[in-house]
Amino acid sequence: METPSQLLRDRLSRAFALVAGATVDPIVQRSQHADFQANGTLALARRSGANPREIAARILDEADLGELVAQATVSGPGFINLTLADTVIGAMAGAALADDRLGVPRAAHPATVVVDYSAPNVAKEMHVGHLRSTVIGDAAVRVQEFAGHRVIKRNHLGDWGTPFGMLIEHLLDLGEDEAAHELSVGDLNGFYTAARRKFDADDVFKERARQRVVLLQGGDAATLRLWHLLVGESKRYFMSVYELLGVRLTEADFVGESAYNDELESVLEELGELGLLQVSDGAKCVFPEGFTGRDGQPLPLIVRKSDGGFGYAATDLAAIRNRVRDLAATRLLYVVGVPQRQHFEMVFATARAAGWLTAGMRAEHIGFGSVLGSDGKVLRSRAGGVFKLADLLGEAVDRAETVVSEKNPELAAVIRAEIAGQVGIGAVKYADLSTDRVRDYVFDFDRMLALDGNTAPYLQYAHARIQSVFRRGDAEPVRDGAPVLITVPAERALALELLAFPDVFAEVAETLEFHRLAHYLFGVATAFTGFYEKCPILKADTEALRASRLALTDLAGRVLATGSDLLGIAAPERM
Ligand code: ARG
Repeated sequence: METPSQLLRDRLSRAFALVAGATVDPIVQRSQHADFQANGTLALARRSGANPREIAARILDEADLGELVAQATVSGPGFINLTLADTVIGAMAGAALADDRLGVPRAAHPATVVVDYSAPNVAKEMHVGHLRSTVIGDAAVRVQEFAGHRVIKRNHLGDWGTPFGMLIEHLLDLGEDEAAHELSVGDLNGFYTAARRKFDADDVFKERARQRVVLLQGGDAATLRLWHLLVGESKRYFMSVYELLGVRLTEADFVGESAYNDELESVLEELGELGLLQVSDGAKCVFPEGFTGRDGQPLPLIVRKSDGGFGYAATDLAAIRNRVRDLAATRLLYVVGVPQRQHFEMVFATARAAGWLTAGMRAEHIGFGSVLGSDGKVLRSRAGGVFKLADLLGEAVDRAETVVSEKNPELAAVIRAEIAGQVGIGAVKYADLSTDRVRDYVFDFDRMLALDGNTAPYLQYAHARIQSVFRRGDAEPVRDGAPVLITVPAERALALELLAFPDVFAEVAETLEFHRLAHYLFGVATAFTGFYEKCPILKADTEALRASRLALTDLAGRVLATGSDLLGIAAPERM
């Protein structure tokens, strides 16, 4: 099933090819002035030196737009403005209704996609950066799965390295029971800070920590048991945050840094055999091509430090090799903050040089900006420290409860609590996903919970209102593929918006720019509101019109629910 813009592009492409004698993209886009505009004419005119308006007119002569359009004109400097025939829109909306994928095709050649996301650090509070990674990564997983790809989730937990010396010694000082208690109630930060403070102030403790690292790396059984305790309690806390968030991460997806320990030597060996290693200040490094520091000198990716230890980069090299070779990944997504961009670019370049990543495989850093407080600085708790993520989410849900009960005081308490959970968490996620992810955004409860504006509650309210139409009318949606009737502009605008879902989906699956999907859903909710205000649905003039408007309402509800679900946001039945 093709979308209107795809159909127009296909038809116009043939005309462009005839006129240009070569393949040219007609560049069909939604437009303010008509339904669609094709402006590929301008590039073609520039190339051939011809007058763009004449080119556009010749293309229209050649184009077989037939029954598809009601109007096709040359406008402005040489654009082609296209208005679809109402019957075509109605027929396509009918077909979309009958499709449980709403017109989105399943990938013809499924890829294996690895999504690396969340990745907090053991015995350390998750910060808002981990929240962003978790929310964006979850959307990436959902979108790639819906596209029909095989998706492997990887929670690259920071569960190894020198800090574990001090963390284990601190655990011993506290006693196992007390330590386990602190960690399981999620006081990760108190634990970490106390360990750090002793490490910095007390030389005896520091020496104990150092020796403990040696024991840990040497595989000492008693030390490993304590390490497991730390990791286990932290995982339990992280899982509780994931459950609050409603993300798809499970215990099985935790494949932390330590999981690659046994592969580090062989990575070093393989890079050495390939002649990619150089010794620099006693460390074994790769100098991938194209990376230089401020001083213009080539930048090293340190594989083995001068003290013989392996670090963050070595682990990521082992992980990428594992994902490509053992998991047979063809697309790798790393959802990590913008400050780590260069690290990943260097890891990818090294993996390419080593022949692990080959043509046709893609490795992408899905970077994101910071979360800011109202003061424009990186978000901190009132006490000035790191936020306890569970508290932040709890506050969102509490505030949502107020919003929901003001909107609908009649809701029973249990239902209200459930909806408040969906709205509060949805609001936090949507605020994150609706801004271009590489940019910073300001965390603002009032704004994200507003019922009007580009927010989750606005979308959720539109969805709930749609469900209430069916409840009030005691109506069942009919999905038999019969055309939708287009009788007034509000129906037309809504139908046209709904038919764009597959186009938007395809773009988002490719670019992982979720704000485009958010923006689209906001447009759908707005178009639905316009339709709802102008067009009587249950009281439509004729039975046929009632059925048709119910069908359009149903389609709007399904696009909103499916689109929200792709962002990990619930679509409540009532609100
Ligand atoms: N644990 C790291 C941090 O908190 C993020 C890990 C990201 N993933 C990776 N494969 N390096 O910054």
